[in-house]
Amino acid sequence: MTAPLCAQDYAELARARLDPATWAWLESGGADECTTRANLDAWPALRLRGRVLRPLAGAHTRLELGGQALAHPILIAPTAWHGLVHADGETATALAAAATGTPYVLSAQSGTAIEALATLPEPPLLWFQFYAQVRREDTLALAARALRAGARALVLTVDAPVNGVRNAEQRSGFRPPAHIRSVHLEGLSPPAARPAPAGGSPLFGSGLLESAPTWDDVTWLREHLPAGTPLWLKGVLDPEDARLALAHGIDGLIVSNHGGRCLDTLPSTCEALPAVARAVAGRIPLLADGGIRRGTDILKALALGARGVLIGRPALHALAAGGAPALAHLIQVLRGELEVAMALTGCRTLADIGPSVLAAPPPR
Ligand code: FNR
Repeated sequence: MTAPLCAQDYAELARARLDPATWAWLESGGADECTTRANLDAWPALRLRGRVLRPLAGAHTRLELGGQALAHPILIAPTAWHGLVHADGETATALAAAATGTPYVLSAQSGTAIEALATLPEPPLLWFQFYAQVRREDTLALAARALRAGARALVLTVDAPVNGVRNAEQRSGFRPPAHIRSVHLEGLSPPAARPAPAGGSPLFGSGLLESAPTWDDVTWLREHLPAGTPLWLKGVLDPEDARLALAHGIDGLIVSNHGGRCLDTLPSTCEALPAVARAVAGRIPLLADGGIRRGTDILKALALGARGVLIGRPALHALAAGGAPALAHLIQVLRGELEVAMALTGCRTLADIGPSVLAAPPPR
């Protein structure tokens, strides 16, 4: 291949470089992968409305997000174990994030501690993503550790209280190698799953759901975090859940179906976003992820109500292909594509991007 030019080029380089089981872990979705595919297909299926001769002088992509000034609306999504795709692991991701002014949402399931990333000579803007733990005190301790290290926002992922049915990953025989650790989770109590009785209820009989979090846990966490701590929920797709999040004092939502890795046949985020945006009505910011591969996808997510987007698999593809420089390059490529899309739809700033950039569907 000539030098990679776009996200898909990085995906192909990563596939050639990674062993098939690691590729399956990274790339797979739930069950028949309908939602993963829908994420990828939905953004390109929307048609744009090109505009001409609009004034573009002074164009920029700056924004404010949760009190933070950002140069562009792209974030790095939380994904586990970057050491599986590059020897420098999350440190490479952090270097690329810092070099490009990209917030990095660090997964609690990382092999590198947040303190190590926060004390790099040029640290990135770090957010911290975590799951509710079996013991509320453990959840709070994780949050407190991240805040102490300098995390600027907390992201509680709520769409995966149990693992999805990931058949492609199962078929590949993927097992995380022994050297791969989840450093933030060591010492915390794992969910107490027991083998379900033979012929009995496979999940409900396992005891796993006895500790699944509820809105009460969100209330408890909110009450125990220092006042003013930005707390986001990740994995909200339904407008009713968005309204509940508002009622629970949540500061922002990530509209996400976990890259289609949890419940298959959920709607794509592109399909789900407008109803969530209507429910929230601008009271808190929305981000969206899932299938973002082009600047035009970013423009469309913003048109449908997101303030910004996150990239999950593409960041891992670039890391696998060439570590920090490749990821920094990919982010610059996406920024460039977004700027071209803005210029050709007549948008000078992100505030100009609204539903009017989308072409009306043709009459039936
Ligand atoms: C994820 N995702 C994820 N989400 C999360 O909240 N915590 C996590 O630790 C992980 N881990 C993870 C690993 C891998 C290999 C993938 C592919 C995804 C989901 C991720 O944050 C994001 O929602 C999706 O990846 C977005 O879709 P795209 O960009 O991959 O299409």
